[in-house]
Amino acid sequence: MNLQLNRTSFGDPANSGNVLSPEEANELLNEWVINSRLQLHMKQVGSLMRLWAKEKEGLNDADQWRWELSGLLHDADWDQWPELHCKKIIEELESRQVDPEIIHAIASHGPAYFGVEPVTKMDKMLYAFDELSGFIHAYSLMRPDGYDNMELKGVKKRLKDKTFAASVSREDISDACQKAGILLDELILFVIERQKG
Ligand SMILES: [Fe+2]
Ligand SMILES: [Fe+2]
Repeated sequence: MNLQLNRTSFGDPANSGNVLSPEEANELLNEWVINSRLQLHMKQVGSLMRLWAKEKEGLNDADQWRWELSGLLHDADWDQWPELHCKKIIEELESRQVDPEIIHAIASHGPAYFGVEPVTKMDKMLYAFDELSGFIHAYSLMRPDGYDNMELKGVKKRLKDKTFAASVSREDISDACQKAGILLDELILFVIERQKG
């Protein structure tokens, strides 16, 4: 499946700051994403993005929502139109005149697949959280205690075990950390702590 976008610019700079409301975002999510596990993944990544924007970047409410929106919608077209991932959601958000930074973050959440490099911190964090969030959630599901008492070393041990959650690209995770300038350990601890809820 070739998902290369073959584009370098996304959205219109004139739409900077434009967002969907939480209601509009939820409506799109419920209409496009039938698979509840995928919905949960998108909500988890959205929530991690918001918390990172708030706690680590010190951004205001409006910017926190822009970050959250990128996570919340990044896989919106994967359920029903996998061959159009993430072209379809990008075009939808462009037609709704959404902030180009949000669209670029979505377009660069898998550089190896879409051919778009993450540039901004928002881009890089979405790329970094995407695989790791799903991986840690998969790990929680196989543990009798779920997220309780989950430790960094347990996650790292599973990362080394290539048979566990084999579809999660370890290369993408380390590449994303490198690009974002964040240590893998810091990112894992952040996800464990914030994803518990
Ligand atoms: Fe994706
Ligand atoms: Fe994803």
